Amino acid sequence: MSEQQSAQKTVTLNVNGQRSSVTAMADTPLLLILRNDLQLNGPKYGCGLGECGACTVIIDGVAARSCVFPLAGAEGREITTLEGIGSRQCLHPVQQAFIDEQAAQCGYCMNGMIMTAKALLDRNPHPSETEIRNELSANLCRCGTHIEILRAVMRAARHQP
Ligand code: FES
Ligand code: FES
Repeated sequence: MSEQQSAQKTVTLNVNGQRSSVTAMADTPLLLILRNDLQLNGPKYGCGLGECGACTVIIDGVAARSCVFPLAGAEGREITTLEGIGSRQCLHPVQQAFIDEQAAQCGYCMNGMIMTAKALLDRNPHPSETEIRNELSANLCRCGTHIEILRAVMRAARHQP
């Protein structure tokens, strides 16, 4: 058996409250498992290097970059993707705020912006503008809609209980 084959691993994932079993190389990026095996295409492949934020998911309450998060590290963790926070019929308040502020152009960064904002508001429902800016500063938007995105997160924060 080659070294590569010996690194295959079967992992039980808990994604959006549903358990599924996946067998793949232990170091397979979680992003690829989510998109290719679980058909969860909310998280996007941007840089693949942990630098743009397009692939963000929430793991145990913390925003995480799934393109550099190994499958083996996901076992037993509570993983939430964009699909798990709202639906067309019942949007999450952050999603609604992004629509209200028309914060998207191409939309490629939206998953990362929304998931990062959700994780922030979950732990700090009333962040200051500076706190929001700091939180989103490592999420890249090549279309330059940062002002609208900031307004959207501030709007969502105003509607927090
Ligand atoms: S695709 Fe993961 S950070 Fe860019
Ligand atoms: S809206 Fe296009 S990358 Fe942000």
